[in-house]
Parts: sequence; C-alpha cells; structure tokens
Amino acid sequence: MTALKNDTFLRALLRQPVEYTPVWMMRQAGRYLPEYRASRAEAGSFLDLCKNTELATEVTLQPLERFDLDAAILFSDILTVPDAMGLELYFAAGEGPKFGKPVQNENDVAALAVPDMEKLRYVFDAVASIRKALDGCVPLIGFSGSPFTLACYMVEGGGSKDFRNIKTMMYARPDLLHRILDVNARAVTEYLNTQIAHGAQAVQIFDTWGGVLSHGAFREFSLAYITQIIHGLTREHEGRRVPVIVFAKGGGLWLEAMADCGADALGLDWTCHIGQARARVGGKVALQGNLDPFTLFGTPERIRAETAQILADYGAGSGHVFNLGHGINQFTPPEHAEILVEAVHELSRPYHAL
Ligand code: CP3
Repeated sequence: MTALKNDTFLRALLRQPVEYTPVWMMRQAGRYLPEYRASRAEAGSFLDLCKNTELATEVTLQPLERFDLDAAILFSDILTVPDAMGLELYFAAGEGPKFGKPVQNENDVAALAVPDMEKLRYVFDAVASIRKALDGCVPLIGFSGSPFTLACYMVEGGGSKDFRNIKTMMYARPDLLHRILDVNARAVTEYLNTQIAHGAQAVQIFDTWGGVLSHGAFREFSLAYITQIIHGLTREHEGRRVPVIVFAKGGGLWLEAMADCGADALGLDWTCHIGQARARVGGKVALQGNLDPFTLFGTPERIRAETAQILADYGAGSGHVFNLGHGINQFTPPEHAEILVEAVHELSRPYHAL
C-alpha cells in the first residue's frame, strides 16, 4: 500500500499537530465544474455516472486537479442504500431524487431489510479504484446518510418542504419509524465498514435533515442511531485510525450531545460561531466547517476576509478542518473555490506555528 504523501486532514481530525489547516469542500465534485458536466453527459444519467467505475473515479479527481485540496471524497450519493433496499431511486429532471417505491405503510416497513452489499458493489469498486488513482496523494473520504436523513427520503418518496409524512409517522406510529431507523443503521454500518475495507480512510455521516427535529426528537430519532452506527464501525485499518465525522445541518444547538456520540469530528453549518462551538465541545472532538457556501459568490477580497475570520474564530492549534457549511452551490464560479483553498492554506499557517 502506497504511503500517504499528505495526511494533514487525518491528523487534524485526530487533533494532532499540523502545519496548516487542511481544507476540502462538501460536494467538491459536481455541477459547478464544467469538466464534471462533460463526464456526466458522457455517462448519461447521474446514477449511470455513480455506477461507472472509471467515470466515478475521474469525477472524484477533477476538483483535486484544479485545487490544492487536502482530501478526496468518493463520488456517489447517500441514496444508493435505500435504492439497494429496492425502493427504486431515480432523478426526475429538475426535481431532485425520487423513489418509485417509497415506504408508506406498515407492510412496506415490515418488508424493509438490510440489503445484500453485493447490490452496492459498484460503490466499493469505485472506492478501490479511486484509492488506486489517488496513489497516496491525499486521503479518501467515504460517506453515508444518517438513518434519519435516509428515512426522510424513503418515507417522503423524495425531497420535502415540511416533512409531513415522516413527522406524521414519528408522532402517530413511532414504532414504525424506529423499525426503519434500525434497518437503516444496520445497513449503514455494513455499508461504511465495506467502504473502509475497500480503502476509505475517513468516513462522514451526513445528517442533512436532523435539524428539522425538535430537541428531544433529534436525540431519539437521529443521534441515537448515529451513535449505534459509530459503535459498530471499524476504527482501525491499514495500521491507522479511521476518523468518523458527523455533519448534522442545523445541529448547532446540540453540539454537546453530539460530541458524545463517538465521532472524532463534528461538521458545522454556517450558522455557528466556530470558536464558541470549540469551547462547547471541550476538546472531545475536532470541528469541520463552516463557511457559508454563498460566500463564494462574493468578491475575492470578501472570500479571503470571511475565511480569515473563521480561522481567527477557531484560533490556534489543531482540530480544525476547513470546509463549507453545506455543499458547494452548482452556480459557484470555480475560480472562487480556488481563492478559498489558497486563502485557507496561506492564512492558517500562523495558527499552527510552534
Ligand atoms: O461531496 C461530493 O463531492 C461527493 C458526492 C456527493 C453527492 N451527493 C453527489 C451528487 C455526496 C457526498 C452527496 C450526498 C448527498 N446526496 C446528501 C447529503 C449532503 C447534503 O448535501 O446535504 C443528500 C441530501 C443527497 C441527496 C441528493 N442527491 C439530492 C437532494 C440531490 C439533488 C439535488 C442536488 O443538490 O443536486 C442529489 C443529486 C446529486 N448528488 C448530485 C451530485 C453531484 C447532482 C446530480 C447531477 O449531476 O445532476
């Protein structure tokens, strides 16, 4: 196995000393890059792109060819798991993801089961192929959705504005939702462990919709299942710790509780003050974030100033991975992403000087 040439990202997640603050961007491979749009056109649909090992490898590497990023993230989607459960994922033009067979009643819930990982072989083949193509240049991040976020799409049948169906189930038939979440947690544990076995060097759990829950419901229906997953994960592979990052959008109010879920790092959306968040988690976890993705629509001077502010707010010492507070928007000028990456590397050095 090739030695890692740049392990700054892994060291920062473990709060070990680094020379500068590492940076990657959620959704760094995607539609804001013209070369992504070309590969996607060649593949056909988005799902065809995920299932084509060669093209999935190519698009994963595209942002790394342009920018000096400190990590690569597997090109795939969180909804591959419910698709493998037989829910029939498709993307309707301009409407986002949809399921042909959503989970709508007691019978649908009873029929759910952890999928045979063989159905997700294309994801693991992509992980192995990307690792090989990276040749140790930076670490590869694997990922999955959280059980609750996956359940939102499974029960709603796609995206939702008010989460009426899943919240109805949560308050009227919590037993059904708990059964879905349990199946999802077991599926995600196997899915992430198989990604790790194929070469993922860190994993991120995306809880995109945990933030729509009430204080109590977040713990019972989201965080408890994330905690269950983390306790079942392979934490050591190829002689290194495999760090786990939990990103709960809108989870800023619950950082103390999240800091106890077993994760090595928490992702922050742009609403939090990262210095205050650092004080609240009290050295239990590293932090990742948290520039508002729309900052990248501002002037170069403004992008540098906002980046400098987050670095100053975090302060001196390791334990910070710079990122956006959510995925990069598809209309972002790619040159502005480059300004961000350069600014993080340049402006963070003084915070890591001995
Ligand atoms: O970060 C990366 O570069 C890796 C790739 C990645 C994708 N989706 C590719 C993708 C990752 C990590 C995801 C995660 C994902 N997918 C999440 C959690 C993160 C978040 O943004 O909150 C969610 C909720 C999904 C579900 C999903 N997939 C939606 C809602 C959509 C459509 C809307 C959108 O933002 O595009 C997708 C499609 C999708 N997944 C695209 C990409 C590049 C766009 C597909 C296209 O090419 O048209």
